[in-house]
Amino acid sequence: MSADPSTLAVHGGEPTFDDQVLPPWPQHDDAEEKALLDVLSSGAWGSTHGDVVATFEQEFAEYQQAKHAICLNNGTLAIAAALRAAGVGLGDEVIVPPYTFIATASAALFIGAVPVFADVDPVTHLLDPQATEAAITPRTKAVIVVHLAGRPVDMDAFTAIGHRHGLTIVEDCAQAHGAEYRGRRIGAIGDLGTFSFQSSKNITAGEGGAVVTDDPDLAQALYSLVNVGRVPGGGWYQHTTVGYNLRLTEFQAAILRAQLTRHPHQQQTREHNATILTDLLGEADGIQVAPPDPAVTAHGRHLFMFRVPALGVAGTRDAVVSALAAEGLRAASSGYVPLHRHEALDREITELTGRLGQPYPRTELPVAEQVCTDTIWLPQRYLLGTEEQTRQIAAAIVKVVAAHESLPRPGA
Ligand SMILES: Cc1ncc(COP(=O)(O)O)c(C=O)c1O
Repeated sequence: MSADPSTLAVHGGEPTFDDQVLPPWPQHDDAEEKALLDVLSSGAWGSTHGDVVATFEQEFAEYQQAKHAICLNNGTLAIAAALRAAGVGLGDEVIVPPYTFIATASAALFIGAVPVFADVDPVTHLLDPQATEAAITPRTKAVIVVHLAGRPVDMDAFTAIGHRHGLTIVEDCAQAHGAEYRGRRIGAIGDLGTFSFQSSKNITAGEGGAVVTDDPDLAQALYSLVNVGRVPGGGWYQHTTVGYNLRLTEFQAAILRAQLTRHPHQQQTREHNATILTDLLGEADGIQVAPPDPAVTAHGRHLFMFRVPALGVAGTRDAVVSALAAEGLRAASSGYVPLHRHEALDREITELTGRLGQPYPRTELPVAEQVCTDTIWLPQRYLLGTEEQTRQIAAAIVKVVAAHESLPRPGA
């Protein structure tokens, strides 16, 4: 890889792109405005008085091809509630990937369960089924698979693991609304699927979450967890179990209903541009983009991720990300830190396992170590531009990566 370093914006050259020209995120129009005003004037602002959350739950369940959807206030507590509904609790081990947003692991800790990290695949960054099976102990109760970046994991392998070992499979779908595995929308392929509607997500109300499932008992358990232990159709002060209040507001559901109708069209644009980026970056020297997988019949396209192993070796990945920002790709990111090295998680796991007198589960995670040094990603907004803008984004990446050796290294 080589290029004239003086052309880099970070060295005083012309920036290749300006991400301000891309469509903004989030997007809204009259549909959100009207829906919000309708809730406002109705006076029914909470879901215990109105029916907008319940209507969205039906629409979202249908969208994800699940029998039930239960809304709640965010994707983090969606995972905690899903685990709890499945009976996961104190001291149970939950296998999670180390390359994901921290919430996947912290949600297990919230209910007193111990997150156990299993390694990821070097091409897709997704949880590796073989590594997962190797991490199972007699204490394992659940696996949280993450459809990271919107790309579904190998659900055939994970449902087989679930059946073989009697484990609950939770799909963390925070980044994968509308994604499909072998023609079926993700979420209820495993036992439970959790979603986030936080600001950056492809369907958003600023905050929010949902759990989908085909199992009526899990759906009822979730209803109770979200509604202070109430049961559907039961009395206001009838708390059959101990539950939280995790309810979504009618305002959020009003926005989500409008966002849901816009999602299919936005996904087409993201898919189209992601294919262009995959082709252009795939042709470039040293850049690795995960190839399409025939089992992935629809990609959720939340992040566009690629690896440049040479940057990991040279230690120039973060400098490349800064140089991309100078080129106008201000939202390019170095991505996640490896969760098995995360100090706060480590502290909590040490304290919890110490109190319970259980071993601190440590696994070898060489792939996660590697990908954390050489992965770069772009947010989904970067997939919403025109073809020409997409080509400019690719050109900026190719230009900077080719000149990476001119960039400062850590400690230099
Ligand atoms: C993979 C993953 N899981 C869980 C979450 C948590 O969702 P929320 O921010 O709505 O709590 C996120 C959100 O960033 C995520 O990306």
